[in-house]
Amino acid sequence: MQFASDNAGPVHPQIIASLTRANAGYAPSYGADAETTRAVAMIRELFEAPSAEVWFVPTGTAANALALATLAHPFDTVFCADVAHIHEDECNAPEFYTGGAKLTLVPTEHGRIAPDTLGRVIAGEETRGVHGPQRGPVSITQVTERGTTYDLDKLRAISEVTHDFGLKLHMDGARFANALDHLGCSPAEMSWKAGVDILSFGATKNGAMGAEAVVVFDPEVARTLELRRKRAGQLLSKHRYLAAQMTGYLEDGLWCDLAARANGAAARLAKGLAALDAVTFVHPTEANMVFAAWPARVHEALFAKGAGYHLWGDTLDGAAPDAPLAARLVCDWSMDEAGVDAFLETLRAALAQ
Ligand SMILES: Cc1ncc(COP(=O)(O)O)c(C=O)c1O
Repeated sequence: MQFASDNAGPVHPQIIASLTRANAGYAPSYGADAETTRAVAMIRELFEAPSAEVWFVPTGTAANALALATLAHPFDTVFCADVAHIHEDECNAPEFYTGGAKLTLVPTEHGRIAPDTLGRVIAGEETRGVHGPQRGPVSITQVTERGTTYDLDKLRAISEVTHDFGLKLHMDGARFANALDHLGCSPAEMSWKAGVDILSFGATKNGAMGAEAVVVFDPEVARTLELRRKRAGQLLSKHRYLAAQMTGYLEDGLWCDLAARANGAAARLAKGLAALDAVTFVHPTEANMVFAAWPARVHEALFAKGAGYHLWGDTLDGAAPDAPLAARLVCDWSMDEAGVDAFLETLRAALAQ
């Protein structure tokens, strides 16, 4: 009954096996090894982008902050969702790595930015000449922080607005695989073909140990990213171990299978919850995250039985027993039907009391 985060789950054995395979003898350091060459080639092939530049880092925060630093001047502003991870959960790393660019928050519905809202917000910046921030890149998150996705039409519309202003588009794809599974399109369609210039391609949440790729589709900006990674202390010397996670992740389509499992578990959970009158959904379930509310006393009973998840914007402190409190439940690749069913059963029993 563990739904706290897809970071809390285990590493998939195929990825451990890939690390073990790579752990033989000597290999050139700093990314000059054969495993890294192979991982880069696999990503280029997967994205149908033979000239894409690919840089590996160990965290999503590093991927996002370095990608944005590559696109934004210190005097720019980055346009992002008001619930964006880069705004709420990265301890100002984007501002730090860009050398001081600010973030302009775009209002969202269910975590998504609407293209016309984006256009209005962009138009509202760079209106004060030298005195105000200059327009910088747009950053969107796919899957969004509220568990929803941008379909291809929405993605294209966002990139059209972005590019019409002469700006670049970054995608935080910490859960890229989960969005891909939901939309059923190709990686290229959900990235550069829809106008994404630079992508943070996550693997950690979907079964890796700590490996993300920054995929740069726009050759204009590729070289400086490599330098920024080193300067930021994010170039791993024993780089083959970062690359081996990625090769293990991508081999035989493992990454897609894992995302399908996580999304499937979330769909089962959402279906079970939807059958209960006392449960209301806060956001639609489109990938591996469920946002729903039920009475405080039922949360207490679930926590007492060992269920793991976070309340979302609400607290049990001082809450009336029947007050509906919102929760976020995240399914990782290892969540099975038994785990979901045990949670639903415990919840039903608590409701009946
Ligand atoms: C939307 C999103 N982006 C990026 C990240 C990556 O963060 P980290 O630096 O913890 O790997 C996360 C992790 O929670 C996330 O949810």
